[in-house]
Amino acid sequence: MSEAKYLEIARRIESLIDIGHYAVGSKLPTHRALADEFNTTPVTIAKAYKVLAENGRIESFVGRGSFVRDRSQLKQVIQSHFADNEWNFSILQPCYADHLESLHTQLKNSFDQLSNPGLYGYTEDTGFSAHREAGFAWMQKFGLRTGSAEQTLLTNGAQHALSTLIELYTKPGDRIALEAQTYPGILSIASFLGRQPVAVAMDEYGMLPESLNEVCREYQPAMVIIIPSHQNPTGATMSEDRRRTLASVIQRHPLWLVEDDIYGFLNESPVTPVTDLIPEKSFYISSLSKAISPGLRCGYIKAPQNQVSRLASFIRATVWLASPLMFEVASHLIMSGTAIEMANKQRDIARHRQEIARHALSPYTLSAQKTSFHIWLSLPGNWQADQFTLTAKERGLLVSSGSYFSVDLNQFSVDLNQFNTEPGQLNVEPRQNNAIRLSLMAIADEGSFREGLRELATLLKTGKSGYLQF
Ligand SMILES: Cc1ncc(COP(=O)(O)O)c(C=O)c1O
Repeated sequence: MSEAKYLEIARRIESLIDIGHYAVGSKLPTHRALADEFNTTPVTIAKAYKVLAENGRIESFVGRGSFVRDRSQLKQVIQSHFADNEWNFSILQPCYADHLESLHTQLKNSFDQLSNPGLYGYTEDTGFSAHREAGFAWMQKFGLRTGSAEQTLLTNGAQHALSTLIELYTKPGDRIALEAQTYPGILSIASFLGRQPVAVAMDEYGMLPESLNEVCREYQPAMVIIIPSHQNPTGATMSEDRRRTLASVIQRHPLWLVEDDIYGFLNESPVTPVTDLIPEKSFYISSLSKAISPGLRCGYIKAPQNQVSRLASFIRATVWLASPLMFEVASHLIMSGTAIEMANKQRDIARHRQEIARHALSPYTLSAQKTSFHIWLSLPGNWQADQFTLTAKERGLLVSSGSYFSVDLNQFSVDLNQFNTEPGQLNVEPRQNNAIRLSLMAIADEGSFREGLRELATLLKTGKSGYLQF
């Protein structure tokens, strides 16, 4: 029996849950019954159930069996809206403390200047050159050295940039190499478009080049997507060395790099994008969503020179062009220096909030950079991430379960530990997602933020049984 058999079975059970064959709340067959059905052993079924439990799809109770979990409740936990009596640690957005008022004033001023009639028509279908210049200037500010304004394309946010690149540069059924824990927006695109995510092992500096190399040899992905700075969700930031080694691996294989550097502005000093090391194979993405406002829906792609017209035609075919009115406003903000000031301010707030959070959550294993918007917290004791997320929600604390980010059950994942063993032999294992992501920026008021952290610390200290753990 192959080592991956239990994963294959876990996936099949998950599909049966998805199509409603096993309804939410229903009891799953016993290990023995399912072993007969799948022509395998009860031990393999037990392993498959363990994977499903780790990924929040089922819940197992000693003596009672395994039951299908309701994930709709979990989905509601990532929320942009929240009630007064809730603390939102779930959504990654700028901190609106004083920001909203100054943004509002700036926008009013910019809107007063929207006199160019071209902005109101179907002109400039690849985007206004002034907007592309501003976008390129924005990306250069945070480290990009290669490319030009002509190589800069405009999208409705980074999400649109990602979906555009995945749709245009991969085919249905193609594999896409991703960091083992990644931004769920990428997983959704892959799922809707029928692309297969492949998990690449990570450490505190992000994607491991040797793991990517193995994945490329074994699965021939058409694309690799990385979030090199303040990675969502782990907070990992790639060192210059890591970037160079990763670039040399990508250079050796026939695949595209998509570098989603939406959090690059949070680095204390500019870091060389991987794109700059292999510009002919790379697409670099940035956006104003995290530094200014996701409401602008302004994103940028810097493309290899020979891909610009293809990409521009695809954007034209799908949305014609990203809203020029919004890009006009964004360009004023960038060219006047206001956007950079706002980005710097958000970075300062993030630094301050990291200090507060690290102090409040000091007994726990946290990972993040000093200026990240979020923290990745390994759950202590007997807490399981989905359970913690739901219990926290009952107490008005909105946090994001590690299970949202995991490339785990998706088709293929490579075990981090294999690199200590024989090269070339892929040892497929489920990932551990027993962590939560905490956004430190969504609660505008600092007093309320501190209060929420105290509540969180109390809940963490309390085991799921309700008893204090230390
Ligand atoms: C890594 C990453 N990429 C892309 C996005 C989407 O950004 P946008 O609002 O610009 O579409 C997010 C949002 O959280 C993100 O974390």
